Amino acid sequence: MTTEILFHGHSCFEINTGGKSILIDPFFTGNPAAVITQEDVNPDFIIISHGHEDHVGDSVSIAKRTGATVIANFEIVQWLEKQGVENAHPLHIGGGHQFDFGTVKLTIAHHGSSLPDGSNGGNPAGVLLKLNDGNIYHAADTGLFYDMKLIGEAGIDVAILPIGDNFTMGPEDSIKAINLIQPKKVIPCHYNTWPIINQDVAAWATSVQAQTNAEPIVLNAGEATSL
Ligand code: NI
Ligand code: MN
Repeated sequence: MTTEILFHGHSCFEINTGGKSILIDPFFTGNPAAVITQEDVNPDFIIISHGHEDHVGDSVSIAKRTGATVIANFEIVQWLEKQGVENAHPLHIGGGHQFDFGTVKLTIAHHGSSLPDGSNGGNPAGVLLKLNDGNIYHAADTGLFYDMKLIGEAGIDVAILPIGDNFTMGPEDSIKAINLIQPKKVIPCHYNTWPIINQDVAAWATSVQAQTNAEPIVLNAGEATSL
């Protein structure tokens, strides 16, 4: 079975693999880029990269409605439990765990992680998914860091990288990131959601083709690619 990577806008991706649906950073309500609502998704697992509102998003209500297991760092899991989420699995940076669809490992990310109500959301993370069909690295919100080279040593089939600048890496640093990670394909995210992170994604894709070995895959919300 092929693994499908479906983009829901901003930083939200749905991975459908081995009969399971995994939703990363499920931000629908208030997301200008979303084309569906939180009622339209039925994940088995939710992964939250860090505490910011545009990443925690609708996690609590989706988890309560579906019973999905939420995977996040320890501090975010403690907060989710206070919100009444029953199934949550705490991880922390550098740690991985084998779930029935594959392994989830949290990586470092250089960013913040305060939760929507101001609670401590621990340290922000990226997400490394090792699936039967290959490996996906969702860098989440981060600036460029040299250890991306180390993450790339896992063999990355698809890297999902922010390119919006201002809050995260911009297009120029994302090219350096791609050359450190050496993924086969790269999907941009965290751009054009609001004017402050607007980017020329066609120009970015041209730069990726000219300056890296990766194939750029630009998705609009609602579009998917396969692993
Ligand atoms: Ni953030
Ligand atoms: Mn963000």
